[in-house]
Amino acid sequence: MMRDRWCGEIRESDIGLSVSLAGWVNRRRDHGGLIFIDLRDRSGIVQVVFNPEIDAETHRLAQDIRNEYVLQVKGEVMKRPEGTENTSIATGQIEVIVKRLEILNDCKPLPFMVEDETDAAESLRLKYRYLDLRRSVIQKNIILRHKTAKTIREYLNSKNFLEIETPMLTKSTPEGARDYLVPSRVNPGHFYALPQSPQLFKQILMISGLERYYQIVKCFRDEDLRADRQPEFTQVDLEMSFAEREDVIALIEGMMKEVFKDTLNIELAMPFPRLTYNDALERFGSDKPDMRFSIELKNAGDIVKDSSFKVFLSALENGGKVKGINAKGLADYSRKELDDLTEEVKTFGAKGLAWIKIKNGFESPIVKFFPEQVLKSLAQRLEAEEGDLLLFVADKEKIVNDSLARLRNELGKRLNLIKNDIYKFLWVTDFPLFEWNEDEQRYEAMHHPFTSPVDEDMGKLLSVNSSDPELFTVHCSLLTEIKAKAYDIVLNGFEIGGGSIRIHKKEVQDKMFELLKISPGDANTKFGFLLEAFEYGAPPHGGIALGLDRLVMILAGEQSIRDVIAFPKTQKAVCPLSNAPSMVDEKQLKELSIKLDVVE
Ligand code: AMO
Ligand code: AMP
Repeated sequence: MMRDRWCGEIRESDIGLSVSLAGWVNRRRDHGGLIFIDLRDRSGIVQVVFNPEIDAETHRLAQDIRNEYVLQVKGEVMKRPEGTENTSIATGQIEVIVKRLEILNDCKPLPFMVEDETDAAESLRLKYRYLDLRRSVIQKNIILRHKTAKTIREYLNSKNFLEIETPMLTKSTPEGARDYLVPSRVNPGHFYALPQSPQLFKQILMISGLERYYQIVKCFRDEDLRADRQPEFTQVDLEMSFAEREDVIALIEGMMKEVFKDTLNIELAMPFPRLTYNDALERFGSDKPDMRFSIELKNAGDIVKDSSFKVFLSALENGGKVKGINAKGLADYSRKELDDLTEEVKTFGAKGLAWIKIKNGFESPIVKFFPEQVLKSLAQRLEAEEGDLLLFVADKEKIVNDSLARLRNELGKRLNLIKNDIYKFLWVTDFPLFEWNEDEQRYEAMHHPFTSPVDEDMGKLLSVNSSDPELFTVHCSLLTEIKAKAYDIVLNGFEIGGGSIRIHKKEVQDKMFELLKISPGDANTKFGFLLEAFEYGAPPHGGIALGLDRLVMILAGEQSIRDVIAFPKTQKAVCPLSNAPSMVDEKQLKELSIKLDVVE
């Protein structure tokens, strides 16, 4: 062994012992006579001391050492001299007086310093990710990720789940993003798709009688990237036979309880609160509301219909909504601050932001359009008090909700209502089965097409006549009112997981495809193997997938999942370390029977 101890673990109880250590030079200080090096390994830092009077040769060698050199030292653990202790590190009471030194490797001048606080650009950090990963802040995240996965595995193992791998080279799966395709050399012109999730295979595993499956698994989605979205990300994916929604919910609540205890030593309050999808949108404008603060959106349509404010009236006439939010205590906001908030909502498609200040009465350029009684009712609905600022958006329901949900989060920040070390879970249930796609003028499955309707709506679904022309020309309430056995789990405003109880009967699945305008031929090409399997004794089943990256991001207190992934990609889906994606040889393309249309 090159070492018998870890740097960060040495304590006063080791004083007098001889130890061998190995690690990197975090920092070197030359005090003329003595040279001090902070030696670092994964466990932390320990101070090692080179004294010319103890060994002149090692001291001479130590003079050439620079940051990030790799060393092996042997020496004696000593108490630090009175007054030189460092209470900010765990090994701060002791130091190791070096008797033997071996320089295992040197290190070129660094592109950035390996230290917790860094102003190095993220692109540079990702190019030299191996240096970035040496920083203890990032190592902590990677270790936390390991612990989280370990707890999850142990929990699911204890509940009789089997970890089963599913193919990476497979067919397109129905999660709704673009696929990453992989050409097949031996089948010219044919492509595998990398899985957007193991959805089809986990359902097949249930039909195979394996009953309880899980996998911590990479999924691939070619979609627009954001702080909480990567092109390849990790799911804790699971599926259970003979299970209902409550079984899945109880399982995940138990899992989160273990994860929070093991990683953050926090006892979560159980069970987690729930909201239906409709209530979540009505009250928070979002299906993933941040429940760490209680601001709610209030409907104002029934009140402002008695005003003469054209903007509101025309929104209502066009079937839209007017909703408001109370920005508590912000009645002193300046024109500029109000304009900033207006810009914020405009990015979500709102045409403007109407405001009323509660300041010795009602103050706003628009109050002239509102009778006193209407203003009073608005103030009452929004629970307004002196000093408050009321903000309203009028538009199509989706725009109103999206923009006010954004504003709600912004107010949460501005009013300092969002505490970092608080964790508020929420289940969102009763999603609609279908969602109208305005651009394509057709329905889509809100979760995915294998999700079962709730029992009460099964009859309704089966009785819909797909040849009814009304169905696809208007936003048809017959379809949008059907609820799904789907559920999402939300933590601090992030969707950290989603799942459903599945359809397990062929006629229901066929009806679903029919209404989604997926022809039997298409359904067969895409998911034929699953549809056929449904005919051979498919048990009722359901499951969920958690976004592991998002969960760990929140546990780590980070703002981006890139900080909890060892080798993440940039917003442009590039890996700056390996330079993927890259051009390939003409020869490789030829083997794959591929001709490029665009060559840069
Ligand atoms: P869904 O598509 O909701 O469900 O995905 C499950 C969870 O995965 C996370 N997630 C992502 N994380 C990072 N980057 C991404 N691009 C990304 N996309 C999704 C989210 C999300 O809640 N097969 C179904 C699950 C099921 O029905 O059992 C599925 O994949 O946290
Ligand atoms: P205008 O009548 O365009 O001068 O707008 C008067 C006020 O109403 C301004 O504060 C606008 O930002 C606001 N406003 C305009 N359109 C909307 C809308 N759709 N919803 C809410 N407020 C709006």
